[in-house]
Amino acid sequence: MMCRAVHISALVISFTLASTLSHVEGANSRRTDLDQQHPRSDSRAWSSVPVYDAREEVSEYWREVAQRTLQDHTDQRNNARKAKNAIFFIGDGMSLPTVAATRMYLGNENVSLSFEQFPYFGLAKTYCVNRQVADSACTATAYLSGVKNNYGMLNVAASVRRTTCEYDHEATEFKGLLKWAQDAGKLTGLVTNTRITHATPAGSYASSAERDWEDDSEVNADCTTTPDERKPQDIASQLVHGEIGKKLKVILGCGRRHFLPRGTLDEDRVNGTRSDRVNLIDAWKQVHGEMGERAEYVSDKRSLQEAANLKQVDYLLGLFGSSHCLYNLEIDEQQVPVEDRKPKLSEMVEAALQMLEGSEQGYVLFVEGGLIDTAHHSNRARLSLEETNEFHKAIELARTRTSIDDTLIVVSSDHSHTLMYNGYPTRGNDVLGIADISGVDKLPYTTLSYANGEGFSQTYVDGNPSKRIDITNYDLKNYRQRYLATVPLSSETHGGEDVGIYASGPSAHLFAGTLEQNVIPVLIAYAANIGHEFGWAPEPSPTDDGGDASSMSLSLLLPIGLSLASTLARWLHRHVMMAH
Ligand SMILES: *[C@@H]1O[C@H](CO)[C@@H](O)[C@H](O)[C@H]1NC(C)=O
Ligand SMILES: *[C@@H]1O[C@H](CO)[C@@H](O)[C@H](O)[C@H]1NC(C)=O
Ligand SMILES: [Zn+2]
Repeated sequence: MMCRAVHISALVISFTLASTLSHVEGANSRRTDLDQQHPRSDSRAWSSVPVYDAREEVSEYWREVAQRTLQDHTDQRNNARKAKNAIFFIGDGMSLPTVAATRMYLGNENVSLSFEQFPYFGLAKTYCVNRQVADSACTATAYLSGVKNNYGMLNVAASVRRTTCEYDHEATEFKGLLKWAQDAGKLTGLVTNTRITHATPAGSYASSAERDWEDDSEVNADCTTTPDERKPQDIASQLVHGEIGKKLKVILGCGRRHFLPRGTLDEDRVNGTRSDRVNLIDAWKQVHGEMGERAEYVSDKRSLQEAANLKQVDYLLGLFGSSHCLYNLEIDEQQVPVEDRKPKLSEMVEAALQMLEGSEQGYVLFVEGGLIDTAHHSNRARLSLEETNEFHKAIELARTRTSIDDTLIVVSSDHSHTLMYNGYPTRGNDVLGIADISGVDKLPYTTLSYANGEGFSQTYVDGNPSKRIDITNYDLKNYRQRYLATVPLSSETHGGEDVGIYASGPSAHLFAGTLEQNVIPVLIAYAANIGHEFGWAPEPSPTDDGGDASSMSLSLLLPIGLSLASTLARWLHRHVMMAH
């Protein structure tokens, strides 16, 4: 059951404290030493007109909010059933400050993103074996395969060092969630708006001692002395020829360059980067042709939607750009009719669900909202919040399109970033705007800023950290504008604190507490009944089913109602049938 959906209220009033300002300011300046830590808000130099719902001044309002939430929680019944389908969303770099700032970007504090309305929440500790602050490769390994390993490495044990060219693949590599799903007979799919060979998506189908080995030219550059037959297989090749990749029913993302040889231009007239002269898109078609399946490759939105609507293809590969996909705001700017623009994340998710839904055996779909991270890396806060918005929409679409009775949706992030949400901005202030003016250098600063990154050069005059730039005239509406950053770095870094885990659907109650990140896929596997790897039978025997059903007490079934009972009956029936 979803918590009450909360909407932005149109009823917003404003008032001014102008009459009291001069008095308090005077008092404050005499006692500046008293509370530097929590300056009197009325002494603020910037925007001192708070905007909020008048009811917030009435204590009963807050008591009612609390009562309603308490009621929601006491009404909540754990759905202990197993999920037929599971959709796992990762917002790359979607830190908790990013989520909080996105609420403000979409309206105010009151906005609740689709996944924030999920009833269960936990936190994931994201460190990897050799780093306090992780990258997307070791975290993907953790949340997809259930094992923590080293920074920069995909599904290879921590005993192997990064970029090692020759190692015992058999002994150190492992597979995860999508393989478990495939072994249990479920359909599988993969969606991202980054290169499909980038660390996060690659974590679902590839093993590599180096996340940068996206095509053979990158393997060759690192493994110059390794004989060809012992060279590790590049990530793009693993997607096309690997055990997991071959079975993916739908693959949607970007990064064509790693599938095309140098000299071959893609649909956007961008050169391929492979050095082995192999066209892996053709190879993909051939692999599935040989498997006797109808396979289709698409490279634009129209053909994607056509293929997904018709449901006449068994396998669908869609690549929509040479490197990462366009940012959401860049897609909006494309000077062509909407139908001819690049597909957005939510449109790709919709197409993937069309390919997977309605199957008897169920499916597991892995989705990455990958550009939240890349926008943060360049200190472009507005761009990142917009990507988080699109991620939220994709999850809303998935939750609306699927049934809460049979589809588990888990949303998390791989790691945090250095985005900070701070100052003491007044209610109603633009979260992407200026928070206040510093009492020390008398210059304005923004509510959002970063601990490090390229924004440094837009923060200090000539890089002199004692001399800030006056940002008054910065165009903070322009998504290319970099936000302030304290330490100069060519790319802003990830952050090391925990990230959220949000869950809805069957067995969603398992996703609670402060967890090691590698626990997540084990919970999903258990919830989706695909954990034969852990000794749980993928197809429960009729007796097990009976046990399952009787352990659900009547008191639990009654309030959920007849509809659930009949769904359960259908489910039991199907499993008994399948076992025969
Ligand atoms: C928050 O949402 C609730 C429920 O829709 C609404 O009643 C209330 O006015 C909103 N408050 C603000 C500050 O917008
Ligand atoms: C593609 O890249 C290769 C190698 O970098 C270069 O030699 C070739 O001229 C490029 N082809 C085109 C059409 O740009
Ligand atoms: Zn990153």
